[in-house]
Parts: sequence; structure tokens; C-alpha cells
Amino acid sequence: MAKERIDYTEHYSLVADAMTSRGLLLGSYDAQGKPNIMTIGWGALGSIWGIPAWIVLVRPSRYTFRCIEHTGCFSVNVPTESLARACASAGSTSGADVDKFTELGLTAEKAASVLAPVVAECPVHYECRVVHSNDVLPEKLTDEIRSGAYQDGDFHRVYWGRILGSYAVSGAADLLSGR
Ligand SMILES: Cc1cc2nc3c(=O)[nH]c(=O)nc-3n(C[C@H](O)[C@H](O)[C@H](O)COP(=O)(O)O)c2cc1C
Repeated sequence: MAKERIDYTEHYSLVADAMTSRGLLLGSYDAQGKPNIMTIGWGALGSIWGIPAWIVLVRPSRYTFRCIEHTGCFSVNVPTESLARACASAGSTSGADVDKFTELGLTAEKAASVLAPVVAECPVHYECRVVHSNDVLPEKLTDEIRSGAYQDGDFHRVYWGRILGSYAVSGAADLLSGR
């Protein structure tokens, strides 16, 4: 299905619903140009420094971490409920070991404006270029969050991605809300 450009604020609450339930798919290329996806449940879509942005948190242990460090780009793809099992799998296997697109029967398409793959089966996606990154600092965390999210260390790197393009298929809202 062909996608059209949309305003980044369109579908905002449906995107938040997807992120906090099945998760979103973060797309990136590795140094060899192999496309990879990983599931993310934490992130923020908004306006920062007057530009549309996605903030995503990636632990250094992820293959995706190496990919984004290499390309400086990522895509955020919003799956329908029918892709919930694919999200669970993309969130428990690593691109270091498997080709997740092939394994999950998903289609990697080239993004229009960044060096990152987009997931054709997702009705909405965002194309982002990293404009800033910083690491979560243990000493700046509350005890509650440090003990809850970082028992094994592996403190996230926070990527601030400028959204260079937001895209959706026609009828994306119905597809995302399962109507
Ligand atoms: C629902 C869900 C949400 C997740 N959210 C994140 C996240 O926000 N950041 C992160 O680093 N890992 C997150 N993960 C874990 C990664 O998706 C998982 O470790 C994945 O296998 C990494 O793939 P990669 O090695 O190919 O990058 C999440 C997993 C699931 C199932």
C-alpha cells in the first residue's frame, strides 16, 4: 500500500497506544547494509528545539545500538495489532543472530530521506536522523527507576531523532485502531 506524507502529530494517540501495548518497530541498517528491526516500548514523539522529533532509548547490548551508531539514522514503524506476535519476536531475538525481516516475513523498504529501512507492513512510519545522543546517567536516576530498569546496568543511550518524514497509508487510523 502506498504511503502519503502526513503531519507528525497525526495519529498521535494511536501511536502512543501501539507503543505501550505491542510496541513499535525501530528500523536500522547494520554496517553491511543488512536491515534490522527491534521492538521498543519506551520513546517520545514531540517537538524539541522547534523541530519534530522522536526520542528513543536503546541499550548498548542491542545490535540496533551498533547500527544506529554506524548510520546515525533510524525509522520508527507503527504496527497493527495483527503484527503483535512479530513485535514480540523482534523484541526477543537479535539481528546479530538472525535476519528478522526474512524470519518474520516482513518487507524492508528504503526510507525516502534517511539511511534506514522502513517496514512496508506498518501503516505509519517516521524517518529520523540523529541530532543528539546522550547516555542515561546512573547517578541522576531515582533509586526506584535504577533498581527497576537497570538491575543489570546496560544503561540506555538516548537518541534524539529529527523527523525528516512522517508517512501513512490511507485509512491508517482504522487499521491501527482495529476498526
Ligand atoms: C515490548 C518490548 C519493548 C521493548 N523496548 C525496548 C526499548 O525501548 N529499548 C531497548 O533497548 N530494548 C527494548 N526491548 C528489547 C529489544 O527489543 C530486544 O532486546 C531485541 O531483541 C533487540 O534486538 P537487536 O539486538 O536486533 O537490536 C523491548 C522488547 C519488547 C518485547
